[in-house]
Formats: sequence, structure tokens, C-alpha cells
Amino acid sequence: MKVGIDMGTASDGTSVPLDIEELLATRLLVQGNSGSGKSHLLRRLLEQSAPWVQQCIIDPEGDFVTLADKFGHVVIEGERTEAELVGIAGRIRQHRVSCVLSLEGLDIEQQMRSAGIFLNAMFDADRDYWYPVLVVVDEAQMFAPSVAGDVSEEARKISLGAMTNLMCRGRKRGLAGVIATQRLAKLAKNVAAEASNFLMGRTFLDIDMARAADLLGMDRRTAEMFRDLKRGSFVALGPALSRRPLPVTIGHVETSARSTSPKLTPLPQAVADVEDLIFTPDPDELIRPLVRRASAPRPTTDILAELSRPRPEPAAIAEQKAPAPEMPAADREALLDGMLAEILENPDAAFRADAELFQDFLVRCRIRRVPGAPLSLSVFRRKMAVARSGVDPDTAASEIWALALGLSRTVTDDLQGVFLLVAQSAVRGLPCPSDAMIARAYGTHSARRARRLLGYFEEQGLIVVHSDFSGKRIVAFPDLQVETAPGAADALELPVESKSAAE
Ligand SMILES: Nc1ncnc2c1ncn2[C@@H]1O[C@H](COP(=O)(O)OP(=O)(O)O)[C@@H](O)[C@H]1O
Ligand SMILES: [Mg+2]
Repeated sequence: MKVGIDMGTASDGTSVPLDIEELLATRLLVQGNSGSGKSHLLRRLLEQSAPWVQQCIIDPEGDFVTLADKFGHVVIEGERTEAELVGIAGRIRQHRVSCVLSLEGLDIEQQMRSAGIFLNAMFDADRDYWYPVLVVVDEAQMFAPSVAGDVSEEARKISLGAMTNLMCRGRKRGLAGVIATQRLAKLAKNVAAEASNFLMGRTFLDIDMARAADLLGMDRRTAEMFRDLKRGSFVALGPALSRRPLPVTIGHVETSARSTSPKLTPLPQAVADVEDLIFTPDPDELIRPLVRRASAPRPTTDILAELSRPRPEPAAIAEQKAPAPEMPAADREALLDGMLAEILENPDAAFRADAELFQDFLVRCRIRRVPGAPLSLSVFRRKMAVARSGVDPDTAASEIWALALGLSRTVTDDLQGVFLLVAQSAVRGLPCPSDAMIARAYGTHSARRARRLLGYFEEQGLIVVHSDFSGKRIVAFPDLQVETAPGAADALELPVESKSAAE
């Protein structure tokens, strides 16, 4: 049975329905210059369809958080760790709760990362949870740009990959992409091409008009009509909308359509504490390994590492140090550590992606003719994490440090540096690192994110955060039976005492 929602009125005053079930299979692209009424249109669509289908909105401006009050969407702040985002996205699919991923206030690169990680995790959901979800992405050209911008290659890859998955491969998994963009020419072509439904709004630039005409299969002269559209007016075309280009004035928002009986699988009854359901990890999840993306292109670094390896070897062995015959293992180790230290001496290193630093490292290995198999990216990351923690050689040799290293393996690669930075302060009885220092070890400038990281470790039962009477922060490690001295969370970054890279 069809569920048709009412998008607005045609020029003859009749209402223009949108067939949601058809939309799930055929996706929608909305384009129109800024102020043409795209966000209003998306809101109309969301409000009208909220009773029928689960929704997830990727919201760069935080525009859609207001849906929470009336329709019960859970608002997810985008500034979270990868593990948190992955966990939440999984639970969103499992429990079929509508959500708004609000990326307001994050810088563009963080927005791309958070959106990419979140969408990929929704895509990777367990087959049991492949229920239909409308995935609405406003300002989609930000997440699937047609050309590389100023952002890092890593952020662009994650985000573009996720958008491609959503639009090109999401259907089977229940994900139906609805994307809006102000500039068609700025949106990656393959992402735009997968939509079979269009709502075209006011468009000024010839290049966007030409792209729109191509997508809709109309000649460019006819496409001129997009130039004169009023705010809130769009031309609809596609199997879920209309077989011929149909001008429609989008209706008001905050009305609710109560159409006839549903055919889409009914959503579960609203439970009392939705937030609790979504934000509380279930214990199993913490021991479940993170899904590694199979469809993502292999990073260049992996390929480089493989190429410079003398002969194929099992992955397990790659994790070990492979001493070459001519050089004693200890010398080789010292050489590698020296090179890591060199890389870290560059003040920008903290804010560069590990994959990028790894390339630098591999090149140095080749220049110095370091014998044996180069490190894998994951071993490299661990070594960097240790080097970044600033641990001194004496501590590095101690038993308790070995324990700390063991504990650090329970968190994901990208968090190990932060974990070890705090752990080494505790082991040595130094003041707790400030937010600025923690942020730096994570490769960000955001103090808020630093506090979230500690919150996450605490959630995992790895640390206990408390404070002394003057409000200075202390971090205790129950497994190690040590804690840091009190340290001011808001202190400016101090020069790291010991920059030794020795493990
Ligand atoms: N169909 C409409 N009916 C009434 N107001 C509208 C309509 N479409 C847009 N508006 C108003 O016009 C302004 C710009 O619309 P918006 O959706 O934010 O544009 P865009 O997202 O394309 O930049 C908003 O204040 C919005 O409320
Ligand atoms: Mg908008």
C-alpha cells in the first residue's frame, strides 16, 4: 500500500504527493540557490513523513534539531570520538529511532569526518537492522564535493566514501538518500547521478542550470525556467513525484498529515527513555571489534608499505619486528625510534594525520636503507602514540609502563596517544595534563573534545576523573593503582618535560 505525503500545491491548486515507498527505492536530489527554500522543503518532507518512516538528518547548521520536540528525534552532537559515533549509529539502526546529527559549530573538516563516520556506521549495520531509513543530507556539496578543497585528504575520503555508499549502495541496506545542494556543479557527479527524483529550485548560474538539465534529461533552453522560480517553488520530476516536470509550491511546515493506513513496517512504540536507549552502550559492544570498511579504497600508505616489503608475509608477522640479518634488532629499533623522534620534532606533526606521517616515515626508511620489513601502519601508530606520550626511558623500561601499554591496546589506534599521555603522568606522579595538551595529543585544538576523550575513557572503566579541593583535575588508573598529581584543566600548554621517543 502506498503512503503519499503532501509536499505542496501545483499551479492548478491540486496537492502534489510524494510516494514515500517509491522514494525509498529511488532517492531524491534537491537543488536551489541559497534562500530558494531547500531547507524548508526538507523540513516539510520530514514533518510529513515522520509518522511513516525512520529518519536521520545530517545537519551542518543545526537547523533541524527543532524536530526533536515535536517528533521525538534524538539530537546527536557531532563532536564525538569515532568509537562513540559508531556505537550511536549502530544503536540508531537497531532501535529505529529518528535522529538529527547536528554538526553546528564544528569546523568543516570535523563535520566531514563526523558525518562520514556516522553514515558509514549506519551503512555497516547488522543485516538484521536493515530497516528503511530516510537519510537527509542538507548542504550535500560539503560532504561530497566535486573537487578537492582545503580539507585533508583523509577527511574528504571518509566523507565522500560515505556519501557514495549512501547514494550508490545504500538501497539494499534500507538507506534512502535525500540530498540538498545549493550548487549542483559543486556536488560530486556520481553522488548526484544516483537520484531518480528531483526537486529543482531557483538557480542562477549557467553551469548549475546545465548540470540540472543534463540530470533531468531536458534541453538547456527548457531548464531556463529554473531561473525565474520564486522562493519555495520547485520543479518536481521522478517516479516518486511526477512523470513530467511539475511546478510545485512547497506547503507550510508544522502541519501534520494523517493519511490512510500504513504499509511501511510500522515503527516501534515510542519507549519512555529513548535517550537512554540510544546513548547507553550495551556491554557487548565494547568488546566487539570495529568494522573495517571493506569497500573503502585502500590507503596509499598501505600500498606503499606493501611495495617496500621485500616479500609477502603473513599479517601476524608484520606486527612483529623483523630484524634484518646484517643489523642487530636493537640497532634497528633505535634507528626507527630516532626517525620517529625526528618526525615528531616538527611542531606541525601533532596536527597531521597519522597516515600522512607514515608516508613521511616510509620515505625516510628508504633513504636510510633500513633493512627488513617496514612497520605496518598500526605498529607505526602505536609507536607514535608512545613517542607522543613523552615517556622517559626509565619509565619506559618499568613493569607498570608495560601494564599501561597493555591497557592502551583496549582503545582504538587514534586514542592511544592521548591515553598514554595521561597514563605516563600518572605513572610518574606528574600533574594531570591540561585540556590543551590532551587536545594536541589527539591532533586537535578543541578543549571540549579533550574533555570528551577523558569522559569516554571513564565510560570504558579505564580511568576515574576527580578533583582536589582547589578544583584541579586528577586522573586515577584503577588497574595501575596510580593517579596523576592535580593539574589545572585550563592551563595553557606547557612544554613537554621530556620529549624522549624511547619506548
Ligand atoms: N515554501 C515556503 N513557504 C514559506 N516560506 C518559505 C518557503 N520556502 C522557504 N521559505 C522561507 O524562506 C527562507 C529561506 O528558505 P530556506 O529553506 O532556509 O532556504 P535554503 O535552505 O534554500 O537556503 C526561510 O526563512 C524560509 O522559512
Ligand atoms: Mg538551507
